[in-house]
Amino acid sequence: MYLLSNIEEILKETKEAFDNAPTGDYSAVERNGFAGNMLALSDNVPFMKYLISKGLKGKVQMIYADPPFLSDADYDATLKAGEGTSLKHLAYKDTWKNNEEEYLRFLCTCLWGMKELLSEEGTIWLHLDWHIVHYMKVIMDEIFGRGNFINEIIWQYKSGGSSSRHFARKHDTILLYGKSDKYYLNIPKEKSYNRDLKPYNFKNVTEYQDEYGWYTLVNMKDVWNIDMVGRTSSERTGYATQKPVKLLSLIVESASREGDICADFFCGSGTLPYVCGKNKRRFMAADSGMLATSMTRKRLLMDNLAYEYLVLENELAETINENPTVDVVFITDGATFDIELKKYRPNQTGFKLNKKDEDSINKLICSNPLALVDSWSIDTNYDGRVHKNQASFIRGKDMLQTKFSGKYTGNISIVVRDIFGGEAHWVSKG
Ligand SMILES: C[S@@+](CC[C@H](N)C(=O)[O-])C[C@H]1O[C@@H](n2cnc3c(N)ncnc32)[C@H](O)[C@@H]1O
Repeated sequence: MYLLSNIEEILKETKEAFDNAPTGDYSAVERNGFAGNMLALSDNVPFMKYLISKGLKGKVQMIYADPPFLSDADYDATLKAGEGTSLKHLAYKDTWKNNEEEYLRFLCTCLWGMKELLSEEGTIWLHLDWHIVHYMKVIMDEIFGRGNFINEIIWQYKSGGSSSRHFARKHDTILLYGKSDKYYLNIPKEKSYNRDLKPYNFKNVTEYQDEYGWYTLVNMKDVWNIDMVGRTSSERTGYATQKPVKLLSLIVESASREGDICADFFCGSGTLPYVCGKNKRRFMAADSGMLATSMTRKRLLMDNLAYEYLVLENELAETINENPTVDVVFITDGATFDIELKKYRPNQTGFKLNKKDEDSINKLICSNPLALVDSWSIDTNYDGRVHKNQASFIRGKDMLQTKFSGKYTGNISIVVRDIFGGEAHWVSKG
């Protein structure tokens, strides 16, 4: 009752909070190809204000929002270093000390920004679960308009725990709203098996047959049965709450057309940016966690999908370690060059490890000085501002290419990224 009676005040104050929030001042520090896709390491509110200031108000076709769920838990990412070592590290917190109102204020502030960015034809997909979705339905009705509610999609899965105290909780809820009644939605077809799996032979109804039996194609229903990303799945990044590509593909393909802008301001391991890249959509994405943006970049790099990586101007020095903790051997005859990575030490301020993990990491670095390098890339014509990935090398099955040779231009830049999301920047002194 307490929460419901405060909703009016929460809505009013969070709208003001978004309107009065400062606009972030960002620098692009890395670019992979060019397609106008942005990924920001940032709290989403200043980033949304930045996008609005750059003219994106009313230009975003779809927004997928997968925020923390008010689950009262913290979430890890599993990080894989060289020599088969893996360790867990905090990815993000979802603990609110029983302060639901603080959570609602946080999420409402973000939702006001999303509403401004959404186009008249746009849709927003808010992904939550039983913890808070019912309160958020009421709030979404207020922010986006009750008449703009489209669907409550149930994403059903098999994984997760069960209890003798309640029925096993095996679904999340996605609230789908249009910005207006002109919203665009392309509902896919799905199979509907005939009773007894036999043909009906109705007039004007096309029937199909597969290995199970006869079926017709019908508009997709609002209960989606899609497996979670399993332990052995090839798409698994190690980010605890990673959503399946199949789920996001369904959303992106239903809600947008090629060339449209899609956004995810809680992008985590980057499932939405990845799906957009694969499906020729543009994306605007942000996450406040370094592990999240580094996993997103790795996913995009692995398929050579275009992105521009932005960081807040005032956090530039912390994000990119200009005092190289990377040692390289660099040889040039003036026309060509050879470079080889030799040693990498992470920036110790970027993360906190428990004693056991710290000891095993220190041991690991002693035996393999490049064990913490997750990927690196080279820009052979560095402009002194934005590192453009011309060639990228990603650790795969415990192998990492460490050497590169090319034409010497006098301005070589390499960015070395570690498993914790930290990075070091080395620039040739030509
Ligand atoms: C449920 S996870 C998203 C998972 C993602 N959909 C995926 O497939 O990996 C929620 C994310 O929201 C991020 N986050 C929480 N508060 C944020 C904020 N204020 N601004 C930006 N990101 C935030 C967390 O760091 C976390 O990565």
